[in-house]
Amino acid sequence: MKANKEVTGNLYHPPKSIVRKANVKDYDSMYKRSVEDREGFWADEAKKLKWYKKWTQVLDDSNKPFYKWFTGGKINIVANAIDRHLETHRRNKVAMIWEGEPGDVKVMSYHALNREVSKFANVLKSMGVKKGEIVTIYMPQIPELPIAMLACAKIGAMHSVVYGGFSVEALAGRIADANSRVLITADGGWRRGKITDLKSIANEAMDRSPTIEVCITVKRTGQEVHMENDRDFWYHDLQSLPIASSKCKTEVMDAEDPLFILFTSGTTGKPKGLVHTHGGYSVYTSTTHRYVFDIKDEDRWWCAADPGWITGHSYLVYGPLINGSTIILYEGAPNHPYPNRWWSMIEKYGITILYTSPTAIRGLMRFGEQWPKRHDLSSLRLLGSVGEPINPEAWRWYHEVIGNSECPIMDTWWQTETGGMMIAPLPITPLKPGSATKPLFGVEVGIVDEDGKEVKPGEEGKLVIKAPWPGMARTVFGDPDRYVETYWKEYEKQGWYKAGDSARIDEDGYIWIIGRIDDVIKVSGYRLGTAEVESALVSHPDVSEAAAIALPHEVKGNAIHTYVILKAGVTGDKKLEEDLRKHVSEEMGPIARPDSVTFAESLPKTRSGKIMRRVLKARALGMDEGDLSTLED
Ligand code: WT7
Repeated sequence: MKANKEVTGNLYHPPKSIVRKANVKDYDSMYKRSVEDREGFWADEAKKLKWYKKWTQVLDDSNKPFYKWFTGGKINIVANAIDRHLETHRRNKVAMIWEGEPGDVKVMSYHALNREVSKFANVLKSMGVKKGEIVTIYMPQIPELPIAMLACAKIGAMHSVVYGGFSVEALAGRIADANSRVLITADGGWRRGKITDLKSIANEAMDRSPTIEVCITVKRTGQEVHMENDRDFWYHDLQSLPIASSKCKTEVMDAEDPLFILFTSGTTGKPKGLVHTHGGYSVYTSTTHRYVFDIKDEDRWWCAADPGWITGHSYLVYGPLINGSTIILYEGAPNHPYPNRWWSMIEKYGITILYTSPTAIRGLMRFGEQWPKRHDLSSLRLLGSVGEPINPEAWRWYHEVIGNSECPIMDTWWQTETGGMMIAPLPITPLKPGSATKPLFGVEVGIVDEDGKEVKPGEEGKLVIKAPWPGMARTVFGDPDRYVETYWKEYEKQGWYKAGDSARIDEDGYIWIIGRIDDVIKVSGYRLGTAEVESALVSHPDVSEAAAIALPHEVKGNAIHTYVILKAGVTGDKKLEEDLRKHVSEEMGPIARPDSVTFAESLPKTRSGKIMRRVLKARALGMDEGDLSTLED
């Protein structure tokens, strides 16, 4: 066996060529330093960025759990993601390679990216966008999406990106929560050879959103769309006005000034908008990206997530641009027109690192290895996985077929709330398929029982983070109590952050994430709340009550199964079942479409009226229903 394909026991050792060039050679000593001198470690990382004014305090923990980082410091994430590169050779470096689904391509240098961003920043200013206001962005995966994000950040406005796969209800709700006056969207986008109806959905959402005054639309597909006088403007019209000058001053922000909110699903009620900042988030995303993926100047980095999710925010847009990387953005479906689309792009652009989800891997694996085998994938040196546990079968296929057994897989655990990766290997770490391995620098993890006692190796426990880190979400937008309640209440005494996942640690100290322990469902790596699916069902005129649960699915990881009590006089049949699935899809978006709808007479509830989803789940899986003492009847 070749040295670089070495497997001992269950450990996959990194190839010598990777180890030789790795930026970090000794994880243990660096980790030790990072937790023993946390503030010193983060100060050293922060010094690698451009600050208008240095911080006076690295960590301010005077008002726990509302931690502050780099207080007194002045910075703007765009000063780091764009401005500082313009003073170096990177000015001429490719910042972004974008490929549309129909095959059109755009390549932009850092110089060109700066021009587009600055012009659009001036446009936003001319629309009266002010520092601190929240602009909602609802777009397909086109260059104008990161451009819009960066333009907001540049002038100190916050962005709230709503995933382009969401629908009317989800968009309207998020616009209302953010109180947005300005919406940026597109006429449509390309997906599986078809045009999506983004502008119509945006129009419908705006009908329910009295706060919106201005809507800017990028012309992507050229389809006929309805534009309202005085409200609707075309992006390209505005970008060619004299007001859209390519000179625009980057706003000087406090380190703790908010950069964006991003809505994510929680256990109960409406999705919550998590708040991330200019300072800590810049430091955290760039540091983790640089160490975990061992970033070199010559890399071509492809994070295949949608910019509308945290993975896209942190590792498609901000982290890599701060590190001066060349990023890849692709508009459409991985299997369009054929299942070799991704592999042909890796060959065509000489991509060196691919970061994607287990669902995408499983989906492409189904088509067979003849598709990747037709392409030269030898430019790849590292692979990444994120969003859900990766099953060993998919891990091995990714490793052997895509990585030619020569590319270590960085299985990275983190959350919208954490801002960046928390548990992940480095390229030098011996790997175990399915384990995210060990905590990153400055991250202290515990796997504990209800009382906060560490569980024994091999036992399941709750995942907690025991100390603050710069990338942490600062609060839930407009609802600080909910922030405390959701994440900090359970281990208040210890001052730990509760992740909402269960996990195990093995004898070697490797961490294995099991999955959510709350009512969050991960479908294809996307995060949805049972509460949102249920509320979409109940918004149908025939439905009186609903419950949603997750059951295992071969490709998607989880599938949504629902139970519905109909209103009196309505009978459930195949057609209504189909109508209800469609209804959820239209209200929330296709990813939330339930796999099944079962009509029920009653739902298992506690005496206080809470639906016992675990009972439904146990029944569906034919498993023991567990403790039923709190069941109502
Ligand atoms: C939840 C967070 C991380 C950015 C994208 C998802 C699950 C995430 C892993 C992994 C096992 C994972 C967890 C977590 N998760 N990464 N490598 N192995 N599970 O962010 O949408 O906020 O979801 O995704 O359950 O809590 P998110």
